[in-house]
Formats: sequence, structure tokens, C-alpha cells
Amino acid sequence: MKHVAVYPGTFDPVTNGHLDLVERSLTIFDEVIIAVAENPKKAPLFSLQDRLSLFRAVTSHYNNIVIEGFDGLLVDYVRKKNAVAIIRGLRAVSDFEYEMQMALMNRRLDNKIETVFLMPNEEYSFITSTIVKEAASYGGDVSSLVPGVVVKKLREKFGR
Ligand code: PNS
Repeated sequence: MKHVAVYPGTFDPVTNGHLDLVERSLTIFDEVIIAVAENPKKAPLFSLQDRLSLFRAVTSHYNNIVIEGFDGLLVDYVRKKNAVAIIRGLRAVSDFEYEMQMALMNRRLDNKIETVFLMPNEEYSFITSTIVKEAASYGGDVSSLVPGVVVKKLREKFGR
């Protein structure tokens, strides 16, 4: 049986930390579906289309991942895909409370779906899409934190 996991997030935009997690997930699961949340409540900087295109551009060398947009309840999406697990990253203790709430809520909604937490390489433990956007908006160099295509897109967005 093929073991499929869903790695959900807003990915606004994809960072090297996200890519590190994709790589780690593929050592455990046969296929990983990257589920890019529409997430209008978060008012993302990049459109869903842009977030999908960026993630696809930087993962085109993998043949065992699928990248899709989703909205609605995550557990419904996971069930629809016949996936067995949700992957989430835990960078630091500060992530824990929100992640635990979400994992336990998802478990309450569907007891059969496990959340698997993976720790990114410590080199990436401080990176968030939010902090990358903040630095890039003031012209900061984020080229060691995100792939080149993302650096380019951020420069276009912020006119820097
Ligand atoms: O990268 P993010 O913004 O931390 O990802 C959060 C995301 C998209 C995984 C989460 O908000 C989510 O699962 N949204 C879909 C609605 C849902 O099922 N929420 C969790 C149960 S309340």
C-alpha cells in the first residue's frame, strides 16, 4: 500500500525551511501532497496561483510529490486524497502551542488521521515566510533563506 501524506500550509512564499521538510517527509512517505491553503483570512501577499507556481518551480525535480490548492477543512481534504498523515514542521517551542491545538482539533474531527511533526535543519529554525517578507519589504537580502525564484518574485513585489 502506498503511504501518502499531506503537507499543508499557506506557503506565502515557500522557504528553504519548507523545502527541507519536503525532503524529510519523502524519507518516510511514498508520496507527499503539498496542499497550499487559499487562506483569505491571512490576506496572503502572493495569490494562490503564484504560491503554487513558486512551489512547483522549486520542486520540479521530484516525481513523488503533488502540489495543489485547497480550501475548506484540512481533514476533509486529507480523507479525499486517501492520505494517512498530516505533516507539520516544529521549529521551536514557540510553534508548539498552535501546532498542538491544530493537531488535536484535527484528531477530534477525524481520529484516523495522524499529525506527524518534523524538525527542520537547525539552520532554518528561525525562518518563517512572515519574517522573510518583512526583511524583503525593506530591501534585506533573503537569498540564503528562500530559493532564487522566490527572491526574484519578492523583489518584483516590493519594487526593490
Ligand atoms: O502555514 P500555516 O498558515 O500555518 O497553515 C495553516 C493551515 C493552512 C494548515 C491551517 O490553517 C488549516 O489547516 N486550514 C484549513 C482549515 C482547517 O481545517 N483548520 C484546522 C482545524 S480547525
